[in-house]
Amino acid sequence: MIEIIGPLAHTAANGRAGASVGVGGAQKPAPLQKQLIERLQQAILGGRLPAGSLLPSSRLLSAEMGVSRNTVVIAYEHLAAVGYVVADKKGTRVSPLSSRGARGEPPARSAAPQVAYAARVGQFTATRTHADAALPLTPGTPALDRFPLAAWRRALERSMERALPLALGYGTPAGEPALRDAIAAHLRMARGVRCEGSQVVITEGAQEALNLCVRLFTNPGDVAWIEDPGYRGAKAAFNQGDLATVPMPVDAEGISVPSGAWRAHPPKLIYTSPAHQYPTGAVLSVARRLELIAEARRCGAWLIEDDYDGEFRYSGEPIASMQGLVDDAPVLYVGSFSKTMFPALRIGFVVLPPAIAAHAEVALYEMLRGGHRLEQLTLAHFMQSGEFGRHLGRMRRLYRERQQALREALTEHFASSEILGGDCGMHLTLRLPPGIDDQVLTERAFAKGLSPRALSSFALKPHAATNGLVIGYGNTSAEELVPAVRVLAELAAGIEKPRRRRA
Ligand SMILES: Cc1ncc(COP(=O)(O)O)c(C=O)c1O
Repeated sequence: MIEIIGPLAHTAANGRAGASVGVGGAQKPAPLQKQLIERLQQAILGGRLPAGSLLPSSRLLSAEMGVSRNTVVIAYEHLAAVGYVVADKKGTRVSPLSSRGARGEPPARSAAPQVAYAARVGQFTATRTHADAALPLTPGTPALDRFPLAAWRRALERSMERALPLALGYGTPAGEPALRDAIAAHLRMARGVRCEGSQVVITEGAQEALNLCVRLFTNPGDVAWIEDPGYRGAKAAFNQGDLATVPMPVDAEGISVPSGAWRAHPPKLIYTSPAHQYPTGAVLSVARRLELIAEARRCGAWLIEDDYDGEFRYSGEPIASMQGLVDDAPVLYVGSFSKTMFPALRIGFVVLPPAIAAHAEVALYEMLRGGHRLEQLTLAHFMQSGEFGRHLGRMRRLYRERQQALREALTEHFASSEILGGDCGMHLTLRLPPGIDDQVLTERAFAKGLSPRALSSFALKPHAATNGLVIGYGNTSAEELVPAVRVLAELAAGIEKPRRRRA
């Protein structure tokens, strides 16, 4: 038997003096009984002890393995209790386990076959993780070091005093009523959204709001339009819902629907970022907004309006939401506190049309679990007390300054490249000449501790106009921006291929 299951590791403590395993007491072997059980289980699962084989008597095995008879008896009893062996008149036999699944000793050495069966695991292509977001020039990361932590802590303590222990329960799936009301009041005033608190569903960031739109408004196989280049989170949500994603081009006026597309690919959902197209920064013109609303109505489609950073507008009057443009617009307005507060808060929302909101309650009970109640109550208080508005004002001024610094540095070091966007938000987009591969440049920048993103990584169908950099300034001070852009320029010069001279 010892040839099949191998010898056990003895120590002075677990049985045989002088046979201690582990140098310098690094790791003590498990008790003999546990070792014996594991060895026998592995041998059975691995097929080395086939079904029906008779195990040695407890007396024989105890002598062979150098353990007490009681140890073997207890090990056999344990294996019998979980069904590895059965005891009959002739002794203890290996049970007829299913050979499928039992073969191959755990743990599995290679994850590859498992991945092949996990249908969606290999579908995603992101090259960076969110953990890199702390690096300078990362798009979309706010100035975390300027967040008013003291005010947040006070608001959190207040919620704990008032709402505990009740707020430890699940809560309503659509979120804390106080927060839904506070968001609705803010959106009516700041973004021209037509809504009441009862239409607001709190989600775990905008991402869950997008997923929810897919689950509530589509069936697998439906067509969904997406801006190209566009937000990868929207594409991921559409993939999860098994939607047929159709890319729509983007120009200086935002999403540009080619004539005939409504008939050729009638959509069920259309993702847009009208206030500040992600990542090109274009503002969707009013003419196109009205056209989208009219056509969506005609063909029974829903527009997702992702207003992810529309609060940070630097020039002129705020551009009101598409949702509030006309009565009963077929728009699902999605928002997030990831930029206005901080990403780890994981609070976003979707504003449903009133008729849908009234009917969605039962579905939401099945799909969502509420939760994060203290954070939601704290955020509600933060908004009602004016702290949120003051924080937004401070951040708007800070980001305007940072954007100015970035624009000047880019103009100096990338004089011949076009800079896109800048009316609002926390990033600028720089078009690069074809000789400078944006993926190569971002990889080299990453090695230097900078994390702009390649514009082409947001493109469904990359082409010359999607070769560029998406450069964040939210988390990077004006002083850091200047040397960072210089580094980018040096790296770009090292990549640029000389243009061929005509003979
Ligand atoms: C276009 C766009 N929408 C939404 C979000 C916010 O997503 P979440 O609220 O899930 O953090 C982001 C964040 O990067 C974004 O870039």
